[in-house]
Amino acid sequence: MTALLTIQDYRLDIPTFDGALKVLDGIDLALDQGETLGIVGESGCGKTVLARSILGIGPAKGKRVSGSMTFDSVELDHLDEAGWRRIRGVKISMIFQDPMTYLNPLFTIGRQLSDVVVAHKRAKGERLPSRAEQRKRCHALLDQVQIRDFERVVDSYPHQLSGGMRQRVLIAMALAGEPQLLIADEPTTALDVTIQAQILDLLRDLVDRLGLTVVMISHDVGAIAAIARRVAVMYAGVVVEQGMTNDILTQPRHPYTQGLLAALPDIEGGHQVLESIPGTIPNLIHPPSGCRFHPRCPRATEICTAQKPVARNIGADHVVACHHALD
Ligand SMILES: Nc1ncnc2c1ncn2[C@@H]1O[C@H](COP(=O)(O)OP(=O)(O)O)[C@@H](O)[C@H]1O
Ligand SMILES: [Mg+2]
Repeated sequence: MTALLTIQDYRLDIPTFDGALKVLDGIDLALDQGETLGIVGESGCGKTVLARSILGIGPAKGKRVSGSMTFDSVELDHLDEAGWRRIRGVKISMIFQDPMTYLNPLFTIGRQLSDVVVAHKRAKGERLPSRAEQRKRCHALLDQVQIRDFERVVDSYPHQLSGGMRQRVLIAMALAGEPQLLIADEPTTALDVTIQAQILDLLRDLVDRLGLTVVMISHDVGAIAAIARRVAVMYAGVVVEQGMTNDILTQPRHPYTQGLLAALPDIEGGHQVLESIPGTIPNLIHPPSGCRFHPRCPRATEICTAQKPVARNIGADHVVACHHALD
């Protein structure tokens, strides 16, 4: 089976006044239809740039230095604007951290959702739905995101809804074109903990019920673990480790993954063990030589400063980019 999304050796620079920011440094990822991939890593490691690049809405000045992205057998890097219009928001949809930014405060939810429904029909060259048909479709979409008080919600303005409800509405809009892939970039980060859990439940339900393929991005390992079957751990523009979520959580091999997991609150013990990784994400204009993690790595040796580690398969579907992965 060919993967739905394949990213190969993808390198992206963003030119700045002080020099090129080497934001993505050879990303390799593949995602099968119906799968849920989590991308986790500290803030600033390039998750959003990667996600937006998949949709062709990466940084305006961003320059692909090498590599390719293929979605459903289409080479994304070769698309023109017309080609993108057939994919962006149609075959691949995205939801973001702050739904308020993507809702118009001046129009009701019903009006905005209807507009999206009509836009999709128009884009497909299909007959435009009547008012009654639009309403029916909005009802179905809001039902899919488990909004039951349809009448109240359609007549509400965005500010009249809670953050969790607004995120549900955004997910409904993202589903309106029946996408094959949903990219969720920190969809729960701005929400209260209990609401976070509800949104994660909803995403899981959509994967189960609609067979939706999801890329879930978060700095929060817990949110990723709750939904993703596979996970890729990113550090400073590099995927340092990837594999089945369960394997990564129980047998992390990369020192960065180990540090990230050690920084998780120990809930069972009733107290927080915050053994976080000392230091900060490096400057990406002058990234560290060799392994980008070496200045913070407890296991770094000479080779780590000299050579970039090649990602190695160290088990069934478990890939690690570390010179000392098997020490
Ligand atoms: N448009 C841009 N111009 C310049 N730098 C950017 C731009 N977008 C992102 N960056 C930089 O790229 C790096 C990765 O950012 P981002 O992908 O947003 O990280 P994450 O989503 O993992 O927190 C950061 O250093 C950020 O400052
Ligand atoms: Mg981000």
